[in-house]
Formats: sequence, C-alpha cells, structure tokens
Amino acid sequence: MNRTLVICKPDAVERGLSGEIIARLERKGMRLVAAELRVLDRDTAASHYAEHEGKGFYEDLLSFITRSPVMVMVVEGPDDTWQVVRTLMGATNPAAAAPGTIRGDLAIETTENLVHGSDSADSARREISLFFPDLG
Ligand code: RTP
Ligand code: MG
Repeated sequence: MNRTLVICKPDAVERGLSGEIIARLERKGMRLVAAELRVLDRDTAASHYAEHEGKGFYEDLLSFITRSPVMVMVVEGPDDTWQVVRTLMGATNPAAAAPGTIRGDLAIETTENLVHGSDSADSARREISLFFPDLG
C-alpha cells in the first residue's frame, strides 16, 4: 500500500504546526494526494477510533479530536508508506518520543500529540475510504 492517511490534529492546527508537519513529510519524499481542513463530527471520529472504544482515554480522545479543525490528508510514497509516516511521527507519548520525530521535537502531552498516521496497510485503506470515499 503506497498511500496512507495522516491527520494534523487540532493542537497542530491551533499551534500553527500543520505546515511544519506537511513540510517534514514532503522533505522525506512523500507527496500530498488529498488534503482538507475540516471539523470532525463525533460519528466520524468514533468510527475512525473505533478500536479504542471503552478505553479510559476514549472520551478525552473524542473531545480532543472534534474540538477544532484538523487537516486530513492522504500522502503517497513507496510501498508501506504508513510505516514511513509512523517512523517520522515518533512514539504515541511525546515525552518518550525520540528527538528528530514530529512528536519528539514538538509535543509533550500524550493526548495532544499533533499527528495521526494509519498503523497498518489495512488501516490505511479503511481510513482513506472513511475520509475520502472518492479515493477508496
Ligand atoms: P494515532 O492513532 O492518533 O495515530 O496515535 P497512535 O497510533 O500513536 O496511538 P493509539 O494507541 O492509536 O492512540 C490513539 C490516540 O489516543 C490518545 N491516547 N491517549 N491517555 C492515554 O493513555 C492515551 N493513549 C492514547 C493519543 O492522542 C493517541 O494518539
Ligand atoms: Mg493509532
């Protein structure tokens, strides 16, 4: 799968870091296929994060991801692009994320960790269809 879904989360847009995040992906060699600034409704957010339903952080996650606009994107690169994006993003907890990664350089709180990337080829396919049905 040479495409994956990336979201600049509300904290990234609020802090003016979506350009920085897109620039890092582009400098790495990935290309934007689709991009749209939009406020996620609860149903879309719940579908996107369905795997986390019932977990302790689930309600905080939904409140956070729906609170203000996000930049939703499809990026294209080599095979397993999702893996390249995940490497650039860094660990889920930004306090533990490696320097040089987006989260490691630019964030410190676990919920407000700036960026989402699909975590497998199957997730990439599912998430691209959810946000950009025309590309699915
Ligand atoms: P994402 O799905 O957003 O790309 O993040 P991820 O794969 O690195 O992490 P995941 O386990 O899928 O968690 C989704 C998002 O939920 C929030 N979270 N909070 N307080 C907590 O323990 C906790 N754990 C996860 C984060 O915003 C995380 O990115
Ligand atoms: Mg995830």
